[in-house]
Amino acid sequence: MPGRRRTSTDARPSPPVSSDEVRRAWEGNAAFWDERMGEGNPTHLRLVLPATERLLAVRPGERLLEIACGNGQLARWLAARGATVVATDFSEAMLERARRRRDGPGPPIEYRPLDATDPAALRSLGAGRFSAVVCSMALMDMSTVEPLAAALPELLEEDGRFVFSVTHPSFNSSGARRVREEEDDGGTIRERRGVFVSRYATPAVAKGLAMIGQPVPQFYFDRPLSELLRPFFDAGMALDALEEPTFAPGDAPGRAMGWSELPEIPPVLVGRLRPVVPHGPARQATSAERLGGRSPSQPAPGRRRG
Ligand SMILES: C[S@@+](CC[C@H](N)C(=O)[O-])C[C@H]1O[C@@H](n2cnc3c(N)ncnc32)[C@H](O)[C@@H]1O
Repeated sequence: MPGRRRTSTDARPSPPVSSDEVRRAWEGNAAFWDERMGEGNPTHLRLVLPATERLLAVRPGERLLEIACGNGQLARWLAARGATVVATDFSEAMLERARRRRDGPGPPIEYRPLDATDPAALRSLGAGRFSAVVCSMALMDMSTVEPLAAALPELLEEDGRFVFSVTHPSFNSSGARRVREEEDDGGTIRERRGVFVSRYATPAVAKGLAMIGQPVPQFYFDRPLSELLRPFFDAGMALDALEEPTFAPGDAPGRAMGWSELPEIPPVLVGRLRPVVPHGPARQATSAERLGGRSPSQPAPGRRRG
């Protein structure tokens, strides 16, 4: 996850990648991912889960939809808090691993195959059925987030919420490198660690490792924050909470240039969006007005696209 290693940092426009290509990598990584993630790795347990818990504030009896559930560790955590969880992923191998792990306390989890880039599949989940939708550390793995964003106002109850986490678009992408500098400051050797960002504005596709040692590099879809959030704003959602958790120094020791050596730099970002515009024709009009007549799928003038 935040230990991501990329194999390309070029700012070339990237050719489109199909959801099937993306899925193949996850099918090949499912066993490794499940063994390493278990019921949560340090990044999940120390950064992602506490922020998700605060932003989601799940209540017993709520009906939750999880998108891209992986081995189901978050779904089991949510069910243990009394939520009824429908947990989905487009990798059958990942779902198989999730089902093999025994449910803990709480209502049984319904695991379903679902490609979150498929608008019809998303619609088939039903309207107004969920108190909340959660997508943990997966939007950056999706070839497009537009279908999910467009589906959310319909999937959610009127006062529902969508909580997501991603590798931080500014600091943890294929355009960013962790660096260590040493300087002789008048006889005192000083060391500085940080992140060097050489590309951010242009959406890019790169292959990389979510976990070091995984058998198959997977695709990452890097989007600047404005591009990541734009489809949700276009769908009538508003961002009402944002967290940028960091490791404390030495919190997750392991690698010399790991994220716990950069306590000022957040490797992940966790956010909450809520529908603010009623679903249906009124929303369309408002969205079009806000875009000054542009269709939501058209890029803003002057924007470079990967
Ligand atoms: C980094 S893992 C995160 C898994 C889990 N949410 C967690 O936090 O442990 C990314 C997951 O996204 C899933 N995924 C990627 N693209 C998807 C898509 N288009 N639809 C559904 N699942 C997808 C992968 O199969 C994989 O399980």
